[in-house]
Amino acid sequence: MKRICALFFALVLAGTLTACGDTGVTPTIRIGVALYQQDDTFISTVMQAFQQQAMAMEQERGVKINLNLADGRSSQTIQNEQVDRFLDQDYDVICVNIVDRTAAAVLIDKAQSAGVPVIFFNREPVMEDLSRWEQAYYIGSPGARAGELQGELVLRSWQSDPSALDRSGDGVLQYVMLEGEAGHQDTLLRTEYSVKTLTGAGIATEKLANETADWQRGQAGTRMKQWLEEFGDAIEVVFANNDDMALGAIDACLNSGMAPEDLPFIVGVDATPPALEAVAEGTLKGTVQNDAKGQAKNMLALSCALAEGTDPSRAVELTDGKYVWLPYVSVTKENLSAFQQ
Ligand code: BGC
Repeated sequence: MKRICALFFALVLAGTLTACGDTGVTPTIRIGVALYQQDDTFISTVMQAFQQQAMAMEQERGVKINLNLADGRSSQTIQNEQVDRFLDQDYDVICVNIVDRTAAAVLIDKAQSAGVPVIFFNREPVMEDLSRWEQAYYIGSPGARAGELQGELVLRSWQSDPSALDRSGDGVLQYVMLEGEAGHQDTLLRTEYSVKTLTGAGIATEKLANETADWQRGQAGTRMKQWLEEFGDAIEVVFANNDDMALGAIDACLNSGMAPEDLPFIVGVDATPPALEAVAEGTLKGTVQNDAKGQAKNMLALSCALAEGTDPSRAVELTDGKYVWLPYVSVTKENLSAFQQ
């Protein structure tokens, strides 16, 4: 007994137990996370970072963080039930990667009735829905900026060596667009702003084809295979709304027998580890970092502040009291080492 007391006082003196408060019971924060689809490459990167950072925070602050992840399997009905369960079980805060971003009002109203703050991330609810309650937040990156940065990657290459990009020599950039899920804000904005950046700089462009591949590598490979059969070498640029689809386009080109140095100029978004490898190999000309770690870090800091009832604007940088925006950064061979772990 004496030894236990001595150890206890030594820990208090060393400051390691101060976060436990007077009761000696470790405070617990319970966070329910509802994912649109757990096996999405980018979402699983965010979640890995979230879990690692939560463990680090437990050590640093002497708290216990209970994370419960639920996979919505792309069904809003399933996700609504999962959120209901979190609310019934008195979670302190819920984080929602909403399946259908137009369906947020129902979830916000339920969370409000239960008095549980809700943080949406990656799939942005419409502003009218988010404004229904002051305890509803959104964490993400501004999709238009990712599109602009993709456009700038192509523009820079055009300006430094137009003939390498304009293989037909007709002064017009022929491109195809691999789109993410229909209706996702990143699909709409990245698609629009990538091309606008080129036309705004006075470059003539021609869209050969566009189609959704639902963020997925396999589907993108199938689309690109068809386009290669239809347009062949006429495809000069491939805009992909994310890296998995850019990798699918690369797969199709290489499978068609094209040499790696003959691939069209392919750009993606996310900076996932396999995409960074493709940048190193030169098959992917560039990508745009979608800051998974930054999104996870802010989601954790905001969750803890809301659970503990402290001022959220001291934990994260809030825009309009609701939004946390993480910047995008473009990645090419030149600055690649800064993004590799
Ligand atoms: C990412 C995609 C991901 C999607 C899921 C986007 O921001 O770039 O890779 O599939 O979010 O919602």
